[in-house]
Amino acid sequence: MVNQERLWQRLMTLAEIGRQPDGGITRLSFSPEERAAKDTVRRWMEEAGLSVREDAVGNLIGRRSGQQNDGPVVLTGSHLDSVYNGGNFDGPLGVLAALEAVQCMQETGVETALPVEVVAFTDEEGARFRFGMIGSRGLAGTLTADHLEAVDANGVRIRDAMTAVGLNPDDIGQAARSSGSVAAYVEVHIEQGTVLERANLPVGVVSGIAGPLWLKFSLRGQAGHAGTTAMDARRDALVGAAAIIQEIEAACRQEVHTVGTVGQLTVEPGGVNIIPGQVEFTLDLRDVDAAVRTRVEQRIRTVAARICADRQLDLSIAVLQDIAPVRCDERIQAAIRTACAQVGLSPLTVVSGAGHDGMQLQHLCPIGMIFVRSKDGVSHHPAEWSSPEDCAAGAEVLYHTLLQLSQG
Ligand code: GLV
Ligand code: MN
Ligand code: MN
Repeated sequence: MVNQERLWQRLMTLAEIGRQPDGGITRLSFSPEERAAKDTVRRWMEEAGLSVREDAVGNLIGRRSGQQNDGPVVLTGSHLDSVYNGGNFDGPLGVLAALEAVQCMQETGVETALPVEVVAFTDEEGARFRFGMIGSRGLAGTLTADHLEAVDANGVRIRDAMTAVGLNPDDIGQAARSSGSVAAYVEVHIEQGTVLERANLPVGVVSGIAGPLWLKFSLRGQAGHAGTTAMDARRDALVGAAAIIQEIEAACRQEVHTVGTVGQLTVEPGGVNIIPGQVEFTLDLRDVDAAVRTRVEQRIRTVAARICADRQLDLSIAVLQDIAPVRCDERIQAAIRTACAQVGLSPLTVVSGAGHDGMQLQHLCPIGMIFVRSKDGVSHHPAEWSSPEDCAAGAEVLYHTLLQLSQG
C-alpha cells in the first residue's frame, strides 16, 4: 500500500542535509540545516496536497481534512533536528513515514471523520541548548518563557535563536493546542535498541518511554602549578569528577534498567601543566520507573557530596531537564496491534530507552508509538540504519493505525 521507494528516496534526500565530512548528520535546531530540511519536507507535503503551515515555535504542519473538519485532529510525526554527528533515521523516519501514510490516504481517496496532521517538530534532541523537545513542548503548552533562557555553546539563548529565524519568542503561547483539540498522537521511530532485531520482527508496539533527567555538575577546586604543587596539597577538580563518574556507573549498575551517561565534560584552565581548577560535566540518567530513577539520583548526589567534601571541592548540581517516564495509551497500543495484524505482523511490545516528543504530547492527548527495527541497535551515530523494507513496514502499520484513530 505505502510507496516504499518514495519513502526511501525522501529519507536519503534528507540525509544529505547537514552531512558532515566524516559521514554523520548535524542538524541543530534553528540552524540553516534544520531550515533546509523543513523546506524540503514542506515541498513534499504540498506535493501530497496537504495544507501546510508553521506554528509559533516553528513546528511544520501538513493537514489533511476530515469529514468533521472542526473536530479534534489525529497528529502524527517526529522531528528533523539531529544530535551532533548523528544518523539518518532518528526523527526523519517518523516525519516521512507519517507523510507517506497520509499521502497514501490521499491516493486511495479514503475519507476519515477526523482531520489528520503530519508534524515535524522543532528540536527534539536538545543537542544545541542541552534542552530539548522545544516544538512539542510548545504544541503541548508546556514551554515557558524561562525555558527560552537556556543557552547554546556560544551563549545564544533559545529566545535569540528564535528571533534570528523570524519567530517571536513572546508568541510561544500561540503554538499551544487547546485541551481536547488533539484526539491522539502517534509516532513512528527507529527502536535504537536490539529487541526487534533479536525477535526477527520489523516493527514493535511501544508500551512506555524511559524518562531522562539531565544534570550539570560543577566542581570547583584550586588551579595551580603541575610541577610544584605536592600531591597532598592539591584540590584537583578533575580527579574529583573522575571519582564521581566511576560512582555514577556503579550506582546505575546496581539497578536492572537504569542507564547513566556522562556525555560532556569541560576542564579549566585546560593547560597541560596546570592542575584543573574547575570542571563541569553533564549526566543523562534514565529509567522507565520514576521511583527507581529517583533512588539512583539520590545515591549519586550523596556520593558526589562525600567525594567533594573529602577533596575540599565546591560542588553544585543544576537540573537541565527533568522529564518523567511515560506510559503509552492502551487504546492506541490496541489500534497499533490491530494494524500489525492487518498487515500480517506479530505485534511485539517494546519499551523505549530514548526520549521522544510524545513525552510532551502526553500532557495534551493520549500517545502511542510504533518502533522500527534498528541494525545492531546503533543510534546517535552515523552508522544508524533501518532497511527500506522495515521503514515501509512502519509506515504501513501507521497507515492502518491512523485509519482507526481518525474514525471519530
Ligand atoms: C533523544 O534522542 C534522547 O533520548 O536523548
Ligand atoms: Mn528521535
Ligand atoms: Mn535522538
